[in-house]
Amino acid sequence: MRRCVVIGSGAREHALAWALAKSAQVVVTPGNPGIAAHGITCVVTPSTELDAELFVIGPDQPVVDGLADLLRAQGKTVVGPGADGARLEGSKAYLKEFLASANVPSAAYGVFDDESEALSFLAEMSPPYVIKTDGLAAGKGVLVTADFEEASNDVREKLSGRAFGGAGHTVVIEEGLEGPECSLMVLCDGANVTALVPSQDFKRLGDGDTGANTGGMGAYAPMTSLSSDEFDDIMERIVAPTIRELLRRDIDYRGVLYAGIMLTSNGPKILEYNARFGDPETQALVPLYGDGLFDLLLAVGEGRLDGSPPVASGAAVTVILASHGYPHAPRKSDVITGLGEDGQLARAVEGVTVFHAGTALDANGRFITAGGRVLAVTGVAETLVEARRRAYEAAALIIFEGRVMRSDIALSVA
Ligand code: AMP
Ligand code: GLY
Repeated sequence: MRRCVVIGSGAREHALAWALAKSAQVVVTPGNPGIAAHGITCVVTPSTELDAELFVIGPDQPVVDGLADLLRAQGKTVVGPGADGARLEGSKAYLKEFLASANVPSAAYGVFDDESEALSFLAEMSPPYVIKTDGLAAGKGVLVTADFEEASNDVREKLSGRAFGGAGHTVVIEEGLEGPECSLMVLCDGANVTALVPSQDFKRLGDGDTGANTGGMGAYAPMTSLSSDEFDDIMERIVAPTIRELLRRDIDYRGVLYAGIMLTSNGPKILEYNARFGDPETQALVPLYGDGLFDLLLAVGEGRLDGSPPVASGAAVTVILASHGYPHAPRKSDVITGLGEDGQLARAVEGVTVFHAGTALDANGRFITAGGRVLAVTGVAETLVEARRRAYEAAALIIFEGRVMRSDIALSVA
């Protein structure tokens, strides 16, 4: 059987490994106890010391740090761009410069490392104010607020380096855009692209999109409200010029180009690119591709995508269960009930898989919380309505103290 290595330790990697395991022998490094309990091999051996036909890098940090370059230098086939391509995610300031030269529509902006210049630029903007940390910040480096005071304080905080350390010393201040958001993951093999079905994630902590920005509290796919005209528009106005610009810069981008898009009244605009699979969108996307994921990703890594869209069927809704205090001060070690020894539901619900993000096993072999986002509960069905019903039925069976969960994931569309 073909061998595949997945790099990472969260629910996204659990979902990728679970989907790839339908047609390959999968090893996750380092993985987590929930992935291992699910029967997928987890090892602590670094990926550079493993052998496989395909390597899939999950998280942003190793991609930005150039792990794909290292693996390719060893002759390995990798899904994940090199450090050059990953700068699209690794630096918001670089991203904005790239988009401007590629003529890709996005918000007006300024880049600052000087506090007084940043504050005078901010004073010229109208609300909502958008302040972004330049570097990686686990999805939490963006403030969107109508409150000028709060925005100014955030600029000071970020520029001081207190908020995100080294990632923070430069800020990007952007025009506030409005409209529904769409996540589009595009597979790119260096030259050819094929899009996965559009999805939506829910970044705010609370129901009704209130509260702090998080790494993501839920997702669903497909995003049925995106019309085919809107999809074509995104491919033409955003994805195509981006690929041309990558080629112009001699960047051999082989991996997932994740486009975070806002559908404004002036057409689609790009909010961010990520150089990897989205989290938690992946947990709702991969179940739609049956056993086709391995062949698809192998084609990405080997530079032989044929342009035909991969077949997806059904719908999926993912609900995140986060720990008490998430995202600012997540608490650990709360005992989780409702899971069996395999880390899946003790009382099964049809079409549901539980992907582990931040869990550990205590001395008695019980799953406990071990991170901000703890579990991603995915319901799959023919329709979004049924997928959502299944996800929430399952989520209700998993209890731990202080559990944080949104109750409105995919509510408006299902
Ligand atoms: P980012 O990490 O850049 O995608 O930003 C995280 C979230 O902040 C996005 O999903 C949007 O909800 C919001 N956001 C980012 N940029 C803007 C913008 N220019 N206008 C309005 N909201 C934004
Ligand atoms: N869901 C947003 C991200 O993966 O960055």
